Amino acid sequence: MRKLYVKTYGCQMNVYDSARMAELLAPIGYGPAEQPEDADMVILNTCHIREKAAEKVYSELGRLKKIKDERPLTIAVAGCVAQAEGAEIVARAPQVDIVVGPQSYHRLPEMIAKIAREGGHALETDFPALEKFDALPKDMSPAGVTAFLTVQEGCDKFCTFCVVPYTRGAEYSRPVLQIEDEARRLVARGVRELTLLGQNVNAYRGEGPDGEAWSLARLSDRLARIDGLVRLRYTTSHPRDMGDDLIAAHGDNVALMPYLHLPVQSGSDAILQAMNRQHRAEDYLRLVERIRAARPDIALTSDFIVGFPGESDKDFEATLDLVRAVRYAGAFSFKYSARPGTPAAAVRKHVPEDVKDARLQALNALLLEQQDAFKQACAGLTMDVLFEKPGRRAGQAVGRSPYLQSVHVDDAAHLIGQMARVKIESVYPNSLKGSLLRERALTH
Ligand code: 5AD
Ligand code: SF4
Repeated sequence: MRKLYVKTYGCQMNVYDSARMAELLAPIGYGPAEQPEDADMVILNTCHIREKAAEKVYSELGRLKKIKDERPLTIAVAGCVAQAEGAEIVARAPQVDIVVGPQSYHRLPEMIAKIAREGGHALETDFPALEKFDALPKDMSPAGVTAFLTVQEGCDKFCTFCVVPYTRGAEYSRPVLQIEDEARRLVARGVRELTLLGQNVNAYRGEGPDGEAWSLARLSDRLARIDGLVRLRYTTSHPRDMGDDLIAAHGDNVALMPYLHLPVQSGSDAILQAMNRQHRAEDYLRLVERIRAARPDIALTSDFIVGFPGESDKDFEATLDLVRAVRYAGAFSFKYSARPGTPAAAVRKHVPEDVKDARLQALNALLLEQQDAFKQACAGLTMDVLFEKPGRRAGQAVGRSPYLQSVHVDDAAHLIGQMARVKIESVYPNSLKGSLLRERALTH
């Protein structure tokens, strides 16, 4: 048996794709390796979203070259760096054997066979999106209590800072029945919570069994009916695609978790326009109001970019104002990073690095304050916890709250794979601790 090591960078979509690549190679004799040093093949599943992410790949390729100098090793670069840089990767790092884009990785087995037969390199960066999902194996490796399921890929929005429309291609939604089939298989293997993935997941318009284009709300409603599936999440959403039915679903669909990642990027209308986000700060705030009206306890998270070209102090202040108005449960913030080929990268008025640093610090301080306030407010609440694994202490189990927090509970090991009501007693920096509520013993 040969051994495969897959290293994943970037988003959850890459986590999903990495798992699919491992499944794809299992039938041709590849089992998992613990580390690259033990592997016959290493796949780097890469991210191109910011410069730092992309550069990490080349330092890892340098490390892998040292291993390959000593013994045979097949090296593949997959994911968005592969898509964006293609043959340049092999030119810069000739130790790479295979370059495969996110829409072509179902061709890995034939690419491996080709280099074994003919030597040299193999490169695939086409976009045969329709083909990929049909070609992936249906026999999935054992799953845990939670799993990702890709329902949509690609992006047609063309935010001016973003490489995704170029690396992941045009928006494509998988058909409802194909998704339902995958969901049922996962549930049969013990999955109780699914996170539906898409670069623009709420733009989902997949073909339904009736031949119509179904929305994400309709898809979620259908999936929520699967016996044994108790929780649904989805990520990442664009404010513009937050349709009325999806907002309503947050009130009506009990499986939909009250947690929504809704990136806004900036609170300045001028910057939002320069980013081509196609909404104003005010539109976002109204949207948040409507979502909270449908589901008052919903926790909101976001992404922010500071130091976008042309961002003034006043623009940045507007971002802080928006954050204060929304009160986030958490957020990611990034310094703007110019990406080759994107419109914003061609702009001359770049914000100096020290200004970016100061803004990032100020924004993070505010976001941390809000994140902490959200966490502290969980103390004393009663919430459903879906238990995933044993805890450190005997009998203890660790699960997730509706808000994705880790919750440690004593005497709950027998509940792994199930959901139970938990009273939150203490709040720690990275987790919560609670106790099981006595289950209505007296009334039954
Ligand atoms: N520079 C900095 N951050 C970026 N993001 C996307 N492109 C860039 C870029 N060029 C951030 C956005 C997005 C998140 C996934 O990454 O905030 O929502
Ligand atoms: Fe990138 Fe904008 Fe598309 Fe999100 S919506 S993937 S930020 S282009």
